[in-house]
Amino acid sequence: MVRRVDVTQAAAATILEELIQDLGGVDLIIVSAGTGHLNPDLNWELDLDTVRVNVVGFMAMTQVAMRHFLKRGRGHLVGISSIAALRGGRRAAAYAASKAFQSIYLDGLRDLARHSGRPIAVTEVQPGFVDTAMMKTDGPIPYVVRRFLVSSPTIAAKQILRAVQKRAKHAYITRRYGFIAFILRLFPRAG
Ligand SMILES: NC(=O)c1ccc[n+]([C@@H]2O[C@H](COP(=O)([O-])OP(=O)(O)OC[C@H]3O[C@@H](n4cnc5c(N)ncnc54)[C@H](OP(=O)(O)O)[C@@H]3O)[C@@H](O)[C@H]2O)c1
Repeated sequence: MVRRVDVTQAAAATILEELIQDLGGVDLIIVSAGTGHLNPDLNWELDLDTVRVNVVGFMAMTQVAMRHFLKRGRGHLVGISSIAALRGGRRAAAYAASKAFQSIYLDGLRDLARHSGRPIAVTEVQPGFVDTAMMKTDGPIPYVVRRFLVSSPTIAAKQILRAVQKRAKHAYITRRYGFIAFILRLFPRAG
């Protein structure tokens, strides 16, 4: 069954609820929809678009998923956040902030699942660069970065699938971003 949904629309939650019902319940929901803009000039519309999709849309979809799993007594929610959630930056402040929202929101949903005492898993995926339309840079990517830090969609998908199969709480994609995250956390905050 296929349904098309714009996660920013008021009807989005209902469309997903109806799809779940038509399928007779589901065991796994992956929320991957996302957007992002390079916006150093702080254009309001661009940042609003990011917040609408990555915050409001993400919350709408994950809420429906979680309510379903809590009612069903089991399930698995996967959210695709980003390594960008770890630090703000001047080129895409709203994107990083929206991804931080996703990461923390997923933490909250995982806590809710744990307190329910039911076998409900919540996986947070934090990709670094993946070579898709989303990967926006404001110049050519240096060779070393491309060679070591940009993964193909196929490799990213394989590693995400492995994390889903393990019902992991968290996964960096690719795994070497675990090291990048460690370094990023040591950096002083911007400014
Ligand atoms: N690529 C990277 O480097 C990277 C890094 C970290 C995190 N991520 C995250 O990974 C997720 C997937 O991105 P991607 O790399 O696969 O990029 P992508 O190829 O640009 O895919 C983005 C997806 O989001 C969907 N989408 C955007 N706005 C939507 C809306 N309002 N309603 C419903 N769907 C919407 C798009 O649907 P349509 O095609 O129909 O527009 C598309 O399927 C995103 O959450 C992104 O933030 C990506």
